[in-house]
Amino acid sequence: MAKAVALAPDRWMPGGEPDPLIRHQNGHIGKPLSRIDGPLKVTGQARFAAEFPMEGMVYAAVAYSTIARGTITHLATNEAEAAPGVVSVMTHENAPRLKPPPVFMSASKAAGGDNLPIMQDARVRWNGEPIAVVLAETQEQAEYAASLVTATYDEEEALVSFAEAVAKGTAQSLFMGQPLHNEKGDAEKALASAATSIDSTYTTPRHNHNAIELHGVTVAWDGETLRIHDASQLVAHTAWSLAQMFGISEEQVLVTSPFVGGGFGGKCLWQHQVLAAAAAKLVGRPVRLVLSREGVYRVVGGRSLTEQRVALGADGDGRLRALIHTGTTAKTSGNVMPEPFILPTRSAYAAENYLLDVQSVELDMLANTFMRAPGESVGTFALECAIDELAEKLGVDPIALRILNEPETDPTSGLPFSARHIDVAWRHGAEKFGWQHRDSLPRNQQDGEWLVGLGCATATYPYYRMPGGAARITLTKNAEATVDIAAHEMGMGTATVQTQVIAERLGLPLTAVTFNYGDSTLPGVVLAGGSQQTAAIGASVITAHRALVAELIKLAGNDSPLAGLTPDEIASRDGGLCKRDDDERFESYASILARAQRDQVSIEATPPMPLETMHWSMHSHGAMFCEVRVNSITGEIRVSRFLASFDCGRILNAKTAASQFRGGIIMGLGLALMEETQFDERKGRVMNPSLAEYHVPVHMDVPEIEVMWTDIPDPHTPMGARGVGEIGITGTAAAVANAVYNATGRRVRDLPITLDKLI
Ligand code: MOS
Repeated sequence: MAKAVALAPDRWMPGGEPDPLIRHQNGHIGKPLSRIDGPLKVTGQARFAAEFPMEGMVYAAVAYSTIARGTITHLATNEAEAAPGVVSVMTHENAPRLKPPPVFMSASKAAGGDNLPIMQDARVRWNGEPIAVVLAETQEQAEYAASLVTATYDEEEALVSFAEAVAKGTAQSLFMGQPLHNEKGDAEKALASAATSIDSTYTTPRHNHNAIELHGVTVAWDGETLRIHDASQLVAHTAWSLAQMFGISEEQVLVTSPFVGGGFGGKCLWQHQVLAAAAAKLVGRPVRLVLSREGVYRVVGGRSLTEQRVALGADGDGRLRALIHTGTTAKTSGNVMPEPFILPTRSAYAAENYLLDVQSVELDMLANTFMRAPGESVGTFALECAIDELAEKLGVDPIALRILNEPETDPTSGLPFSARHIDVAWRHGAEKFGWQHRDSLPRNQQDGEWLVGLGCATATYPYYRMPGGAARITLTKNAEATVDIAAHEMGMGTATVQTQVIAERLGLPLTAVTFNYGDSTLPGVVLAGGSQQTAAIGASVITAHRALVAELIKLAGNDSPLAGLTPDEIASRDGGLCKRDDDERFESYASILARAQRDQVSIEATPPMPLETMHWSMHSHGAMFCEVRVNSITGEIRVSRFLASFDCGRILNAKTAASQFRGGIIMGLGLALMEETQFDERKGRVMNPSLAEYHVPVHMDVPEIEVMWTDIPDPHTPMGARGVGEIGITGTAAAVANAVYNATGRRVRDLPITLDKLI
């Protein structure tokens, strides 16, 4: 498949490479437009999944298993059934028969976090698996009754200890069907003979998803049609996947998700949507199921743990001769997501010899999944700390060492980079941050009892554009445009940015553009993940726009100033079309449609396959700078300054992009200093399933974060933009760790860096 696609022409849309309108400007792109859905949210009118009212609705609460592996021998539900307000209790004994969920990547529209059967048998497969759903007239009644459900088990020995599993043997990890393994030359031999080398082990813990909006659904059956109000990163995938499970057609599942209070990889298809739909079928009434915070920890997978080795060998002048990044992670038998921590290393540095490899073991636990820059966030922690260690040993500046080892082409794929200006990002960032004032001697800067240190690291996240996009543009004779696409707004500003993109493309004011999304009946199969949604929508809009222009030229006919022009020669301005290099040749949309006696034109189109990613190595880049203050007595760590300098192609909205960058960096600070799922290695149970015990950064933990960017358009992406969603999470933990080293002289290679590791 990859080989066949690679033979196709190296342009991402037919007829243009790069996008011919990439430099044409109507003034909307890059503007710091505030979120158009902001007023709806602050006035409480934005309706989230668990806020849709339904006639006759019942409320659901879930009871969870307390063992990791075994069989339910008896499930006592009598007391719950007799409790006030209870309508029904669903268990494996009375739940509707369902097929297992199609696990993510097993089919183009598969959405499941795993492929395990859901409440279909007495088996228990992880500690915290749902064993009963209580339905009652109020949420409180449902929750109380769920607390009365008790189970007895025939418990079996579970494999829940990572160390034990590793001792039994690891297996080659696959990611998207490909081995997580790259090798060139003899890296071990080169390491052994290198003039200078380091060889370190880094560990990162499990992490859980903690979107502020809890996972919730409101569902109803209308005959054989299932309507679901979901909090989703993938409405079309969810509709298809649920259809497979319930044995109905895709068109019979209607998923809407107009607003999502944070996704981060966690708002895909887990048991709660399926249980709610099954329960609604069982009782013949609409059901609302909102997981409690604990429920999210029990049912929604997070990030798995990693144990990584990074070994670097360099010549006397600092050129890398050996780069080894290997290690092990854990997954389950039902999922396909080994934490792919070598991904960032594949394109990071030129090294003559390299060995990259991810091994995995399978545990009896909840399936882990995509979470906040999977791979890159924990992979850059290890790699970029190792670079800092090598720079220290070589006695060179860590930025200079990075620039020295910049690859000319992608070191593992051999592809040219579509656009890589990481050196510019480093230069601008270093200047603004005042890096030249850094004292490279550790533990040499003190302010009272506080040790002060500076650190830096490279951030990187790939450009993806997944197949499946499609968009419909409808243009009316009043020069108003509506774009329909099954995309998602999870708080990052999708609707705002896409309104800008469409207004720019069509030469319309923002007020003349409506962007419809978050509904599985709209065109397109779009994932709001992998930082790719903007590119996926953009390519769809551009393709539909080209078709629209072709149609408008046809309608304009021979009496139009546009007569004789081809779509390639056309641009737009002021509510109409013009010749690209002679904008006096112009006709308004109103005039074109009036002459053609049309009220509107509507065009749906599908963009070409993402061939660009087969021809270019495509990545967003960044340079992260951090100042920490570590209390020399208590070990308390405060991040006092943070600056990030990005190279992510053209920035489409300066305000929402800056917020995306900052949000990512805050998650990176959590990864560095706080976040850790406490997993009981004897019982396989998550022990800290709450925000009281699972710590994330709060305002007091976060300094003013400065962000800047090169704004150099990438000629090979729609609109010249690459993703900005996840890159802020990458590199951040290493920048913090390197700053902690500079402050204290202590290398902490085990996340999170808590004070006990410093005193
Ligand atoms: Mo993200 S982990 O690609 O939703």
